[in-house]
Amino acid sequence: MLTSRPKGTNDILPGQVNKWHYLERIAGEICREYGYSEIRTPVFEHTELFSRGVGDTTDVVEKEMYTFNDKGKRSISLRPEQTACVVRAYVENKLFALPQPVKVYYAGPMFRYANVQAGRYRQFHQFGVEVLGSKDPAVDAEVITMAMDFYHRLGLRGLELHINSVGCNDCRPLHREKLQSYLASRVEGLCKLCQSRFSRNPMRILDCKEEKCLELSKEAPTTTDCLCENCAAHFNKVKQYLDDIGAQYIVDNRLVRGLDYYTNTAFEIMASDIGAQSSIGGGGRYDGLTEEIGGPAAPGIGFALGIERIIAAMERQGLDFPVEGQLDVYIASLGEKAKQEAFKLVYTLRRAGIAAEIDLMGRSLKAQMKFANRFETSFTLIMGEEEIERDIAVVRDMFSGEQQEVPLTGVVEYLLKQLRK
Ligand code: HAM
Repeated sequence: MLTSRPKGTNDILPGQVNKWHYLERIAGEICREYGYSEIRTPVFEHTELFSRGVGDTTDVVEKEMYTFNDKGKRSISLRPEQTACVVRAYVENKLFALPQPVKVYYAGPMFRYANVQAGRYRQFHQFGVEVLGSKDPAVDAEVITMAMDFYHRLGLRGLELHINSVGCNDCRPLHREKLQSYLASRVEGLCKLCQSRFSRNPMRILDCKEEKCLELSKEAPTTTDCLCENCAAHFNKVKQYLDDIGAQYIVDNRLVRGLDYYTNTAFEIMASDIGAQSSIGGGGRYDGLTEEIGGPAAPGIGFALGIERIIAAMERQGLDFPVEGQLDVYIASLGEKAKQEAFKLVYTLRRAGIAAEIDLMGRSLKAQMKFANRFETSFTLIMGEEEIERDIAVVRDMFSGEQQEVPLTGVVEYLLKQLRK
């Protein structure tokens, strides 16, 4: 073989893609119910969108971006996430002039040059939503509820929803100051990464999973200790909305997400049984992002969920990925004449909107029936020399096992009627 696929990427093979279709179908249903429209933005953007939007000092931008100069010597990056892209599209296309809020969803590949391990890939896929133009805490609660609804509709159990408030530009400097003064005498004991975070981005130290950092920052001031009045009121209101609909959540004062744009509400959803990469989704509010990228002020909030991790969690929990009837009819034929009739019939069936297949491998009749079973077809048509002589086909209902002789001229009508039942 000339070459294999690049590290950290996956082929989604025909046997697997049904799972993706199922998740996409459920995501589409939820988005319709919650009133979100789809948005599609480019897979690559100017690098500065992410360095400004996501943040220069984040791991994602600093270490994980696929960045290159194009032939016009512009610095281009494959999108490591889509929030900044959606916000760019909102500003560039003046969506702020539409009735607000603008509620959009997206699904597609993201690219991060991460250390590859189970659940951590270099090309991975997210389903996400963004709401722009409203600061109402009801939007925070709606977005969080929507993510949880999605998981529950897939049947996932044992999830933990962690929420926190990371404050705003008014109260964050106070937290930064208090945190730095608390950690000043402890810096030496932190891991290398957190030592470098101390002056650049000390809040991220609270999020470190290293034992020594956890221990040293155990009593450190959290963001919620330092919230200004507005931020505290906003957070209380979000919790109240969630309580009102009986949502289960854990207030996690150490939750500070890895992207710089967050303000106020931040949340993450963990699945306990998929190993180290337990975060199956996360999101939060980003009220300063439109301005950061040169647009007018507009608040925003959203989430992104990792499709590969969700599928892994569903597989671990033995959940079904119901496939919508892929193949309606399989035509098994025996002999050259019957094959010729089968070829004509399969063409007519497909034109009538029926998903149909014939044998393309010269299999025996028995092997064809076995093949049809594998597809879980609704009906199998059996056409041998004798049936052709009599201008009929034998139609077998694969569910009940019942067989019926149907004149060839009436097959399409008969099947359409049966399939509609
Ligand atoms: P994020 O936490 O970086 O947030 O990613 C969201 C989800 O994408 C994660 O919870 C995880 O399930 C999945 N994910 C992230 N990195 C990888 C990877 N290397 N391999 C596999 N799955 C991965 C964001 O991306 C924000 N844009 C979310 C957001 C939307 N915030 C506001 N709006």
